[in-house]
Amino acid sequence: MSTLLEVSGVSVSFDGFKAINNLSFRIGQAEMRAVIGPNGAGKTTFMDIVTGKTRPDEGRVLWGERSQSLLGMSEAQIARAGIGRKFQKPTVFEDQSVHENLLMALKGRRGPWAVLFYRPAAADLARVDELAAEIGLADHLARKAGELSHGQKQWLEIGMLLAQEPRLLLVDEPAAGMTPAEREHTTAILVEAAKTRAVVVVEHDMEFVRRLSCKVTVLHEGAVLAEGSLDHVTADQRVIDVYLGR
Ligand SMILES: Nc1ncnc2c1ncn2[C@@H]1O[C@H](COP(=O)(O)OP(=O)(O)O)[C@@H](O)[C@H]1O
Ligand SMILES: [Mg+2]
Repeated sequence: MSTLLEVSGVSVSFDGFKAINNLSFRIGQAEMRAVIGPNGAGKTTFMDIVTGKTRPDEGRVLWGERSQSLLGMSEAQIARAGIGRKFQKPTVFEDQSVHENLLMALKGRRGPWAVLFYRPAAADLARVDELAAEIGLADHLARKAGELSHGQKQWLEIGMLLAQEPRLLLVDEPAAGMTPAEREHTTAILVEAAKTRAVVVVEHDMEFVRRLSCKVTVLHEGAVLAEGSLDHVTADQRVIDVYLGR
């Protein structure tokens, strides 16, 4: 599988504390990857580095077929290059309908001038329907986003990210605060999304991770402690000691 993102030898310190310590990580095109590890392992910081929010002190972050360095790029440039990120707290427009939220996300792809003179084309309206079906909100298009359940808001935000057609989607603890049924639906959305793009999911819920049925990377003290199938890493004594056994 050809590499989409390659992080190598990356370190970052906050006030002398090494949050990321010589981290190397590689993900292929259209690959699903789960990242697990104890609190403070550096999982969110890893996403901050990939999205340009945090600058590493050393190391390389390379993107795409041309191995373009992401390190000199702004957060906006990295997003435009095709990296989408979902934060824990959904950031949907509560007063707008599900339909409007998805349409706005499609528009956002086009830049400010296009937005100014924008009239939705039939293709965009069809794409909104397609996205709504993908996230399971086809029957809720007319509802205000503010009326949705916590889980439905999260799905809407995933749909808004998918509208931008990222080649890599980073998702930090999506299952937090969700009911078991919502968690299951969230896994299904992510598994579907990973058929056509790379998806990296940080999650503590092991049931959730199991349903992703993908390669798992275990982070500990800012570096990779173990990598492989979920069964492989959960049988690793070091992983049990620092994470599972707690
Ligand atoms: N902006 C920051 N300033 C200072 N310390 C930070 C900052 N971001 C993260 N850290 C520290 O880096 C370590 C890793 O944090 P984080 O990446 O959030 O871990 P995780 O997401 O795996 O729980 C923690 O000890 C955290 O306190
Ligand atoms: Mg975190």
